[in-house]
Amino acid sequence: MEKFRALVAERLSPIAGIPVEAVRALLEVPKDPAMGDLAFPCFALAKERKQPPPALAAEIASRAGASAPIDAVEAKGPYVNVRISPAALVTDAIESATRAGDRWGGSDEGKGRTIVIDYSSPNIAKPFGIGHLRSTVIGGALYRLFSFLGYRVIGSNHLGDWGTQFGMMIAAWKRWPDEAALAQRGVRALVELYTRFHQESEKDPSMKDEARGWFKRLEAGDAEARALWERFRETSLGEFKRVYELLGVTFDSYEGEAFYNDKLDAVVELLKGKGLTKESQGALVVDLEKWKMPPCLLRKSDDASLYATRDIAAATWRHDKYGAERILYVVGMDQKLHFRQLFKVLELAGIEWASRCVHVDFGLYRISGGKMSTRQGKTVLLEEVLNTAIDYTAQILEGREMDAEKKLRVGRAVGVGAVVFNDLKARRSKDVDFDLDQVVQYDSETKSFKGETGPYLQYAHTRLCGLVRQYGKAVPDQVDASLLLLPEEVALAKLVGSFPDVVRRAAEEYEPSIVSGHLLDVSAAFNRYYHAGKLDGSMRIITPDEAKTAARMRLSACVRHVLAAGLRLLGVEPLEEM
Ligand code: ARG
Repeated sequence: MEKFRALVAERLSPIAGIPVEAVRALLEVPKDPAMGDLAFPCFALAKERKQPPPALAAEIASRAGASAPIDAVEAKGPYVNVRISPAALVTDAIESATRAGDRWGGSDEGKGRTIVIDYSSPNIAKPFGIGHLRSTVIGGALYRLFSFLGYRVIGSNHLGDWGTQFGMMIAAWKRWPDEAALAQRGVRALVELYTRFHQESEKDPSMKDEARGWFKRLEAGDAEARALWERFRETSLGEFKRVYELLGVTFDSYEGEAFYNDKLDAVVELLKGKGLTKESQGALVVDLEKWKMPPCLLRKSDDASLYATRDIAAATWRHDKYGAERILYVVGMDQKLHFRQLFKVLELAGIEWASRCVHVDFGLYRISGGKMSTRQGKTVLLEEVLNTAIDYTAQILEGREMDAEKKLRVGRAVGVGAVVFNDLKARRSKDVDFDLDQVVQYDSETKSFKGETGPYLQYAHTRLCGLVRQYGKAVPDQVDASLLLLPEEVALAKLVGSFPDVVRRAAEEYEPSIVSGHLLDVSAAFNRYYHAGKLDGSMRIITPDEAKTAARMRLSACVRHVLAAGLRLLGVEPLEEM
């Protein structure tokens, strides 16, 4: 498509009387394909020329005229719609995708640029709740998208591993140490310990002093306190990593909040030096009233630092250490105010890159349907959700002829894929509903997965792999793409051709759902093609006509590439068989 964009821009530029680059930037892909392949909106130009947009569009269209590979230039309201010859589009898409192979969709436009993505970031000694799933899955997808575009990406897990609650944890452990429980039940044992301490300290306030005492010792670097804190941290991290492995998510740094403890004074001094701080009831704050926000708290009256202080230190450290030009924070909407305050303080400190810090927020996660109970007061664990989906797919696969090991592997990939895709299907600001019957949809009659789901896309991918197996030889790279002129084929080739655009837009808008939507379109279009072939022999992919078959197989191979690459970007494993 890039090639045609350039060509159309060159053709329209002298007629519109504006530079080629300006035309190019304005060109859109019409939502309705019947309108054409590219459209030039005339609003801005018409305003400048004090002309009605439709009149200008008509004038440009009539002067432009059509010549190969442009089939038609027509005015439609305020737009100049351009239709490219299907043969040219198909040939270009197939050739470009074939040449690029696994790199199709990627680019090196991010070369030499670094972006830090802060994602997942769960809290130590707390269960890995379902709320952190979204951050992990969205952040993981953004990580892969930007990497695919050639950026150097640093995945940073800003663990919540500091705060007065650790004083309570240590005090609780000193009272009721239970090695066996910790070894067996890990984080759950820690949570119980914490809850018990919390409850009993309501009756016995001296316990709160005890906890405060331990936190002071921890802050002062006391060896015993430190060792316990480290154990709690390791225990939690061990469990988190199990989930990350299941999701196929990795991090370049696990520098959590505690890591910044020795960097906080410098930050406070910096802000003081700029005259930004003031005392308020014994606490040190940055006043943000002018921007209609509550003050940003840097130090409490007892000198303890806060979440915000550590985030200011983390931002500057990341920028200095990695040379990050952008920092993305993949965190729920409930922290909107926190990030607005953080970015404002950075801006007030005169930090130029503050404007390139972005809060990539998202909606809530809800569990519904009967298969997962959310008993009152019980947090739903991410691992439970994943395992429920895995068990469910394992049941479906039970009767299949597959060896046990493979069944296990496929069941995992499909279960995880279902949960991940469900999370990335809609725009991230929307709430996500987890209902097992919706996330995995299975038709027991045709024995196939269906619906707008991860398993369905994995299934579409296996079908394409099956086709290649059926073909029985290597799919040739060089084919006569002009043989692919069925409307189904043109539609598919266009979807292959626009994949690079889709990847770029998904990254720039921090919106993996753009990839999800594209994959659903691709698999729906392929399904139509495949089924049309079943009804009408002349449309079958593998036919007695060798040249036609080779061309159709090449197209199918490109479709498979797009599907596999897109699924991988999202964090869903493309399967060969299932
Ligand atoms: N640990 C925090 C929480 O669970 C999220 C941290 C997000 N990252 C950040 N730099 N503040 O709420």
